[in-house]
Amino acid sequence: MTPRFTLTRRLAPDHAARSLRADVSAGLTATPKTLPPKWFYDARGSDLFEEITRLPEYYPTRTEREILTAAAPAIAQLTGARTLVELGSGSSEKTRLLLDALGANLRGYAPLDVSESALREAGEALVRDYPDLEVAATVADFESPIVLPDTPGPYLLAFLGSTLGNLDAGQRAAFLTSVRTALGPGDALLLGADLVKDTGELLRAYDDSSGVTAAFNKNVLHVLNRELQADFDPDAFDHRAVWDPAEERVEMRLRSAHEQQVKIAALDLLLHFEEGEEWRTEISVKFRRESLAAELAAAGLAVRQWWTDEHERFALLLAEPV
Ligand code: SAH
Ligand code: AVI
Repeated sequence: MTPRFTLTRRLAPDHAARSLRADVSAGLTATPKTLPPKWFYDARGSDLFEEITRLPEYYPTRTEREILTAAAPAIAQLTGARTLVELGSGSSEKTRLLLDALGANLRGYAPLDVSESALREAGEALVRDYPDLEVAATVADFESPIVLPDTPGPYLLAFLGSTLGNLDAGQRAAFLTSVRTALGPGDALLLGADLVKDTGELLRAYDDSSGVTAAFNKNVLHVLNRELQADFDPDAFDHRAVWDPAEERVEMRLRSAHEQQVKIAALDLLLHFEEGEEWRTEISVKFRRESLAAELAAAGLAVRQWWTDEHERFALLLAEPV
């Protein structure tokens, strides 16, 4: 009998070491210093993100779940999907609403994520709870070319949680073009997008009162200490969440509490931080309907359906290749 949960690694075994080295060498020697957010997600980072999704201040997950609960039957009917592919799938919790709606028509679920621990935990739970489901997980970077599995189409490619907002405009254009290239006639993209809203509500979601988001942000320091033999003191950096009105995005930053030097032994690099110096660890772009539809159109994707919650906090859209 073939196992119903398989996991394929499409990242080279030294990917974390090589690609992290390149990102650190480029990003932490630039002014201002930056690092891509994908390095948050080791096993602890993935667990901390799951904790974030349950915080009272972090509205995106529960709002997207509410929209998906209402929209899932229509999504199943409109797409007739036989294979569900999900990028940045994490715990695949909300995905269960899609699996339930797609039902017996579904031939396979293919989650993809950089976090192997998240894929394993999610995949093992899914095959326990869905006795007829084949789960073919891939550890990969969704910014690499997207490869659809061999299971039959039509394909529904899900990218939930507004993870699109963690990419800048150039990265989004490249990513959406790669999605468009992967999709054939009859396939569809299901995209979750967080919307521009009151600044106070946005900032509370990224600076919660129990400090979970701060721990998530500082987790990148533990990753750098472990993977690159760095000597960051997590207590010497403070978590910051800042709204950039021009770019319409929340930035997560780490602020150096005092002037300090940090050694990154694996790169033979000595970093200098001024007191109060901030480095950006994540952008979280908030979207508007018209400009998001224009970004999709530029990549050859047309919005077919748009769903939102009653307060228009978050949107879910279905787009098709044109
Ligand atoms: N889709 C889930 C999880 C969102 S958290 C939800 O809506 O709740 C973002 C997820 O994307 C994490 O699981 C993280 O490991 C993954 N991720 C981040 N950057 C990635 C990249 N470049 N390639 C693949 N996965 C990535
Ligand atoms: C995964 N991503 C969409 C989350 C976000 O809201 O940008 C990550 C996150 N960062 C801080 N809190 C949650």
